[in-house]
Amino acid sequence: MLNFAIDMAREAGGLLMQKLGAAKVSNKGDIDLVTEADLASENLIIDRIRSYHPQHGILAEESGEAVLVGGKRSEWKWIIDPLDGTTNYAHAYPCFCVSIALEREGVLEIGVVYDPVRDEMFAAERGRGATLNGRQIRVSDVEELRDAMVCTGFPYNVRERPDFTRDFANFTMAAQAVRRDGSAALDLAYVACGRFDGFWEDGLSPWDTAAGVVLIEEARGKVSNFDDEPLSIYTKKVLASNGLVHGAMLRVLKHGS
Ligand code: IPD
Ligand code: CA
Ligand code: CA
Repeated sequence: MLNFAIDMAREAGGLLMQKLGAAKVSNKGDIDLVTEADLASENLIIDRIRSYHPQHGILAEESGEAVLVGGKRSEWKWIIDPLDGTTNYAHAYPCFCVSIALEREGVLEIGVVYDPVRDEMFAAERGRGATLNGRQIRVSDVEELRDAMVCTGFPYNVRERPDFTRDFANFTMAAQAVRRDGSAALDLAYVACGRFDGFWEDGLSPWDTAAGVVLIEEARGKVSNFDDEPLSIYTKKVLASNGLVHGAMLRVLKHGS
C-alpha cells in the first residue's frame, strides 16, 4: 500500500509540474484559490484508488468525503490533498506538494508527501520508520527554542484573526527563526526530517495534516493540539515538533513567551 501511495503521489506531482505556470485560477472564497491543477491531480489520485481499491473510502479536499462503498462503511480511508500550497502554485512560487495518507479503522497507517519541484518523496508507514527518497529520517535534536527554526501557516480567514500575527510576533521573539512557507504538509515533512524544529497552525484540515502526522511520529517527533493532548487530525489546532521544544512552544502559544 505504501508503494501504491508513493506511485500516485509521484504521478500527481508530475502532472502539477506540467501545469505549473499555466494554472487557471478561480476563487473559492476571498483568498482561497482553486486551480485547475488541484482538480486534475485529485481526479488522477481518485481514479487510481477506484481502479485498484474500489472498496476503500476517500476523503479528498476538492470532492469531499465518500466513505460508504456499496452502502457499507469502509475500514480504509484515503485522505488526500492533491495540491498543498495552492496560493504558491498559482504564483509559480516553487513550494507545494501532494499529500496522501491512509487511515484504517481511524488509525493513520501511511503518509506520503511529495515535493515535485525538488523531487523529494517523504514516506512513512506506521511502525516502520520514515524516509526521504528512501533514506531514513529523524527529527532534529535542537533542545532550546532560542536555537530552533520554527514554521507556521495562516489560514485563508487570517484577516479576521489578529491572534495569528500575535503568535507570529511572539515566536519571532522566542525562536532563532520563524518561517511561513505556505504548504502545511511540506512544513510537517520538514519537521520530520529535521529542517524545522517545530510547526504550529490553527485552522488546518485533515488533508493538510494526515500524512505529515505519520511522518513525524515515525521520525520520533511529537504532534499534539495546543493543549498538549493527542492530536486528532479532525481538529484544527496542530503543534508539531522534535519533542524537545514542544513544551516551550506550548508556553509561547498559551502565555506569549
Ligand atoms: C493551505 C496551505 C497553507 C496553510 C493553509 C492551508 P492549500 O492548503 O497548507 O500552508 O496555511 O491553512 O489551507 O489550500 O494550499 O491546499
Ligand atoms: Ca492544504
Ligand atoms: Ca489543496
